[in-house]
Amino acid sequence: MAELVVALDFPDAGRALGMARTLAGAAPWIKVGLELFTAEGPALVRELKAMDFKLFLDLKFMDIPNTVQGAARSAARLGVDMVNIHALGGERMARAAMAGCVEGTPEGRERPLLLAVTILTSMAAGELPVPGAPGPSEMALDLAGKAKQYGLDGVVCSGLEVAAVKASCGAGFIGLTPGIRPASSGGDDQRRVVTPAQAVRNGADYLVVGRPVIGSASPREAALAIIGEMRSV
Ligand code: C5P
Repeated sequence: MAELVVALDFPDAGRALGMARTLAGAAPWIKVGLELFTAEGPALVRELKAMDFKLFLDLKFMDIPNTVQGAARSAARLGVDMVNIHALGGERMARAAMAGCVEGTPEGRERPLLLAVTILTSMAAGELPVPGAPGPSEMALDLAGKAKQYGLDGVVCSGLEVAAVKASCGAGFIGLTPGIRPASSGGDDQRRVVTPAQAVRNGADYLVVGRPVIGSASPREAALAIIGEMRSV
């Protein structure tokens, strides 16, 4: 069954921990991304893990293989449940990231899932700054095939392309989809968006949702409504 991952996109620990307390018992997964990690670092990740959430550390590593291997090792040592890299970093970087995840996993613990970001869900056709590039969905599908070949656990892609990813990479290859917008939300910087029900129907395993939950007047209810919509499919 698909799972909701709530993005704690906050600038400080106080607000992130407050939201985590609000969501405890409603949303099993939370995500710490660039804004929060840059502000508060590993100490906050440990504190959130101690609250019994499953935690996705969304730092989208992209660097030379040796550096990414070290970063993935440090992330695995922190005890997070999922980490990611950019698929565009290529095969040697991806394999180094996996090696780092294995090396850093504490004895008796499970290695974090390692996903590759294909093409950001905020990018629309024509926005890829690569001359002659195919559309973002074609490119995402191609990168997903490469990520599978490199031995990764799955990809981050739009709910618009997850069905094609599953069809070509197999049902067991994880599809995590940001760019989720309940039918009632207004427009923002995300472009390749789908509703929670569409993402589940298209085969997504994890749905990442930030602002529609954390920016809501009642975040716990908003999360539960999304989970309800996901289960109704
Ligand atoms: O607020 P919103 O629902 O757009 O939040 C989406 C979250 O997912 C953000 O934390 C963003 O960094 C992250 N993300 C994304 N697209 C990707 C990978 C991660 O939007 N390809």
